[in-house]
Amino acid sequence: MSADAWWKHGIFYEIYPRSMQDSNADGTGDLSGIRQRLDYLEDLGVDALWICPIFPSPMADFGYDIADYCDIDPRFGTLAEFDALLAEVKARGLRLVLDLVPNHTSDQHPWFVQSRSARDDPRRDWYLWRDPAPDGGPPNNWLSNFGGAAWTFDDATGQYYGHSFLKEQPDLNWRNPAVRAAMYDVMRFWLRRGIDGFRVDVLYHLIKDDRFRDNPINPAYVAGGPESHRLLPLFTTDRPEMQEIVVEMRRVVDEFSDAVSARVLIGELHLPLDRLMAYYGRSENGVLQGVQLPFNFQLIHARWEADEIRRIVRSYDAALPPGAAPNWVLGNHDESRVATRVGPQNARLAAMLLLTLHGTPTLYYGDEIGMPDTRIAPGEIRDPFELREPGKGLGRDPQRTPMPWSAAPYAGFSTVRPWLPLGEDWTTRNVEAMAHDPASILVLYRRLIALRRQEAALHGGSLELIDDSPPDVLAYARTSGRRRLLVLLNFADADMPVDTLLDADAEILLSTEHERTGVLRRDAMLRPFEGVVLLPK
Ligand code: GLC
Repeated sequence: MSADAWWKHGIFYEIYPRSMQDSNADGTGDLSGIRQRLDYLEDLGVDALWICPIFPSPMADFGYDIADYCDIDPRFGTLAEFDALLAEVKARGLRLVLDLVPNHTSDQHPWFVQSRSARDDPRRDWYLWRDPAPDGGPPNNWLSNFGGAAWTFDDATGQYYGHSFLKEQPDLNWRNPAVRAAMYDVMRFWLRRGIDGFRVDVLYHLIKDDRFRDNPINPAYVAGGPESHRLLPLFTTDRPEMQEIVVEMRRVVDEFSDAVSARVLIGELHLPLDRLMAYYGRSENGVLQGVQLPFNFQLIHARWEADEIRRIVRSYDAALPPGAAPNWVLGNHDESRVATRVGPQNARLAAMLLLTLHGTPTLYYGDEIGMPDTRIAPGEIRDPFELREPGKGLGRDPQRTPMPWSAAPYAGFSTVRPWLPLGEDWTTRNVEAMAHDPASILVLYRRLIALRRQEAALHGGSLELIDDSPPDVLAYARTSGRRRLLVLLNFADADMPVDTLLDADAEILLSTEHERTGVLRRDAMLRPFEGVVLLPK
C-alpha cells in the first residue's frame, strides 16, 4: 500500500480507553493496557488507532471535560507511558490519532478558573460570558446537547457562561485569537511528540453567532426525543466562520506533514450531506484545505435496507468534491452498537459492507466480535446524558462496556470489578473463544481486513453501483486497473438468485456464509443475509 496517503487506504480502530484493558487493577482501562493489546490489533490488521480523550479530567463527561490538554490523566497513566505506547505503535508500523476537544474545557481547567474569577480578568473573554436577560433569566434560548439551558449563572460575577454540553464543560470563545493560538499550541505539543493526527470533537460547534440570536423552534421535533432537538441549532453550529478555523487547523497539522507521513484531521460533524462536504475545505492547487476525513455517520443512521444504502452511497459520491477521500463508519462511543442496530444476523453483512466500500473505514472496538449493546441496570448508569435525560434511550453506557478478552474472571479485562458491567454473553463472546473459531465473526473481520489490504481494488479502487440487482441485494464493483471485483450483499432473510450478475465460474474470494458454516455452495444464489466478494472470470 502506498505510504503517502496511509489515511486513505488504511483502517482506523477507535479505542474507548476506559474499556480496552485495565493493567493496574482499578477496574478502568489505561494506556499500558492498550499497549498489552497491540499484538491483537496488529493481528486484526488495522492501520491506525484513535484513542478517545486520555487527558487530566474530572470525568464529568468521561474525559471530554479536559482540565489540562498537555498531560495524561493518572487513571490512564503518565506522559512517559504515553510515549512508550506511541513508540511501540510506531515500531509496529501502526499510527496513532488522539482526540482533540477544542469546543470546551473542564470547569476545572485553569483557563476557566481564571476566567470566572473576575469580569476584568484577562482570560474573561476566553469563554462565553453574557449578562442575564432583563428578567434575570439566561441570555437567550440556546439548549445544551445534554438537555436543559446552555447557560449557567455564576453568582460571583453575576453573569451567565455558555456550554453546549454539561455546565462542567464551559465553551471556549473561538472568536478570541488568543484561544485559537492556545489550542493550536496544544495540537503542536502532541504532533511534536509524534502522533499522526486528531479526531476533532464536535468541530462544527466551535463558533457561535456573534449576536447570540435565539435558535428557531424545530417544527419536526418529536416528543420524547432529546430536549436539545426542540430547537434548530442555526446560531450555535456550522457558522460560516467555521471554514476559516478549519483551514487554520489544517495548517497546524500540515506543519508536521511530509509526503510519507501526512498528519490527519478527522472531524466529528453531525451535519447534512451538503454541509458535511464543506469541511473538506476549499481547493488550492488541487489540494483540499480542510479536514481530510469529515466523519461520515450516514450508515449509522441508515435504515438497514439495500435500497437505502444504495441511495446513501450514490448521493455521497455525487456530493464529494473533486479530490476528496470518502470515509465510512458503523459505530462509535456515542451510538448504539451495530450488532444491536442491525441485529446479530446482519452484523456480518455490515462488516463486509464497511470493509468493501470505497474510502477509509473506522471500526469501533468490540464490533469485530459482534458485541451488542449491554443493558445497564439503573443503579449502574454512569453516562451524564442518560442521567440528565433518563429513559429516552439516549444513554451511551451500553456501547462503552469493557472488551471481553477471555472467559477468565472479569473477562481478562481486569482483575477487579470493571467500571461498567461486562456484556451478558462475555463467557462465550470473547476474543480468546473466537480467535481460533473459523466460524466466528472475529475471524471474518480478520479475513475481510486481510482481503482489503491485499486488493488494491478494495483499499484504493473506484466503486460503481450496479443498479439491476435483484431486490434486497446491494451490488457494486470495485476496480483497480484491470482487476474488477464484485460485491453482492443480500439484505433479505431469503435466498436470492443473482444469476443475472454472475457467470458460473466466478471465483468467490470471500463469503460471509462460507466463513460461518464452512459450506461453500457453488450456485448463483445468495443465502439469507449473505455477502460475497467475487472475481468474475
Ligand atoms: C462528542 C463526543 C461525546 C462527548 C461530546 C462532548 O460528541 O463524541 O462523547 O460527550 O462530544 O464533548
